[in-house]
Amino acid sequence: MTRCVVVGAGAREHALAWALADSAEVVVTPGNAGIAAHGLAVSDRPAAELDADLVVIGPEAPLVAGLADELRAAGVAVCGPGADGARLEGSKAHLKEFLAAAGVPSADYATVDTPEAAEARLRAARPPYVVKTDGLAAGKGVLVTDSFEEAIADAREKLSGRAFGEAGRRLVIEEGLVGEECSVHVLCDGERFATLAVAQDYKRLGEGDRGPNTGGMGAYAPVGRLDAATVAGIEDAVVAPTLAELRRRGVDYRGVLYAGMMLTVDGPKLIEYNVRFGDPEAEVLAPLYREGLADLLGSVAAGRLGPVPRPAGAAVTVVLAAAGYPEGPRSGDPIEGLGDDGQLAEPLEGVVLFHAGTTRDPSGRFVTAGGRVLAVTGTGGDLATARARAYEGAARIDFDGCQRRPDVARGAA
Ligand code: AMP
Ligand code: GLY
Repeated sequence: MTRCVVVGAGAREHALAWALADSAEVVVTPGNAGIAAHGLAVSDRPAAELDADLVVIGPEAPLVAGLADELRAAGVAVCGPGADGARLEGSKAHLKEFLAAAGVPSADYATVDTPEAAEARLRAARPPYVVKTDGLAAGKGVLVTDSFEEAIADAREKLSGRAFGEAGRRLVIEEGLVGEECSVHVLCDGERFATLAVAQDYKRLGEGDRGPNTGGMGAYAPVGRLDAATVAGIEDAVVAPTLAELRRRGVDYRGVLYAGMMLTVDGPKLIEYNVRFGDPEAEVLAPLYREGLADLLGSVAAGRLGPVPRPAGAAVTVVLAAAGYPEGPRSGDPIEGLGDDGQLAEPLEGVVLFHAGTTRDPSGRFVTAGGRVLAVTGTGGDLATARARAYEGAARIDFDGCQRRPDVARGAA
């Protein structure tokens, strides 16, 4: 049996590990309390010491830091790009330069590193105003607003280095794109690519897409409204030229490339690339591709990706976030409704929980320990069933100050 090591500690890694365990032996490093409770092996040792046939790297930070290169140099098969490919996510300024070279449609932009330059650029722009930190900021470095004053204040704050440290000392100011967003995950083996079911993420904290941007408050897949022609259009205009440009630059990209797309009236435009599975998108995609996932990700790592069959059914994930998320999440709130295995105390068909920010207190009870606490995934033959299950599961869990969106996949099912 293939021995897979999953690197990371969130709900994305929990979902990947759970799905991989269907067809492989799995160890998660470092994992979290909920992953361990779910009967999946966790280890504090680095991936290189875990004797893996395949390492799947969940988060962007180790990819940007070159973990995949290190492991490959030691002869380990890895699903995840090297540091050269990971720069697509690691630096927004690099991304924009790359997209221009590749001819991929995306928002116009300017890179600035002084408040004066930021203000001049914003004065020349029209709402919505978009202000981004250049470096990694865990999905929280982006402001999209119709208020010029708010945009200026945000740019000053970011440039001061107070909020994001060095990652914020350079900003990208972008044209605001308007349209529907979707998450297009593509598996790349260095040569070929295969597009997974398109997912939708709910980035804003509140119902109706109000409130601050978060890491993601829910997701569903597949997005039925996107027909095959739209997906093919994204592959032609965005994915294929990106892979061609990567190859031209000598980058052997083996891993997941997640294109955050905006479907504008002028056609699909790329908002950003992530060099890994989305979180919470992985919590819907992993269940849909569970069967044979180890082989599939193994074929990405080995450079022998074949056709990927379209999955049956649908999945919906509702994220339960801590009080105070995203600004200042509160830890230590006891979580009601969980059994000793960290799953629903009273199990429901087609519902699985993935732990993000949980830990166990000295008495063994699960308590909150992070911004996004739990992802509740419902699966079913269709979106309506998956959605009903996800919300029924989520309704059985509570903790003080729990924040959840009621409208994930609403109207889509
Ligand atoms: P990012 O971290 O670059 O994905 O940005 C986070 C979120 O901000 C995206 O998912 C979009 O909802 C929004 N966003 C980013 N860039 C733009 C843009 N140029 N126009 C409109 N919305 C954007
Ligand atoms: N769901 C957005 C992300 O993972 O970046």
